[in-house]
Amino acid sequence: MADLRPTEILLTDAQIQRRVRDLATEIRRDFPDDLHLVAVLKGAFIFLSDLIRNMSGHVSLDFMAVSSYAKGTTSSGEVRLLKDLDTTLDGRNVVIVEDIVDTGLTLTYLQDILRARNPKSLRTACLLSKPSRRQVDVKVEYTGFTIEDRFVVGYGLDYDEQYRNLPHIAVLEP
Ligand code: IMP
Repeated sequence: MADLRPTEILLTDAQIQRRVRDLATEIRRDFPDDLHLVAVLKGAFIFLSDLIRNMSGHVSLDFMAVSSYAKGTTSSGEVRLLKDLDTTLDGRNVVIVEDIVDTGLTLTYLQDILRARNPKSLRTACLLSKPSRRQVDVKVEYTGFTIEDRFVVGYGLDYDEQYRNLPHIAVLEP
């Protein structure tokens, strides 16, 4: 495990920026007035910041933190809420902003607890999706890129808290 490091660049900075711009336009088109983004810490923080800078008009945001992976590159299947929202979702158009959907367990958990808070609408934006790893059928309305079953880092995504600062997305390999 200790010898894993980012190797092949899967998505360049420019590719990510272009796609995030398109996603921001699409989301804004669907919700031109009221829009409340709920970002999932820590992995989604760069995605969120690029997303909102490509949106005109009013947009508010809030953060949640969950832990799904204890350590390493495999899912424990266990989700814990580490930080809850600061504000109510009642009557808002809410879009969850997540870095990656892997098994889908984290997102299912988040969607369930947020739906119970009575938003006007609830959708999800994920930068990356690994459909081959899915254990539960979870709905994602806005997907940046679909990727194969490889562990990736960069652009907010980490391995043991490292590599979040890479401007691109790279595969982690021995
Ligand atoms: P899921 O519950 O299995 O869908 O896992 C989602 C969470 O696992 C993400 O929010 C990430 O924090 C983490 N994760 C899954 N795959 C990767 C990866 O390839 N790189 C970094 N983190 C990942």
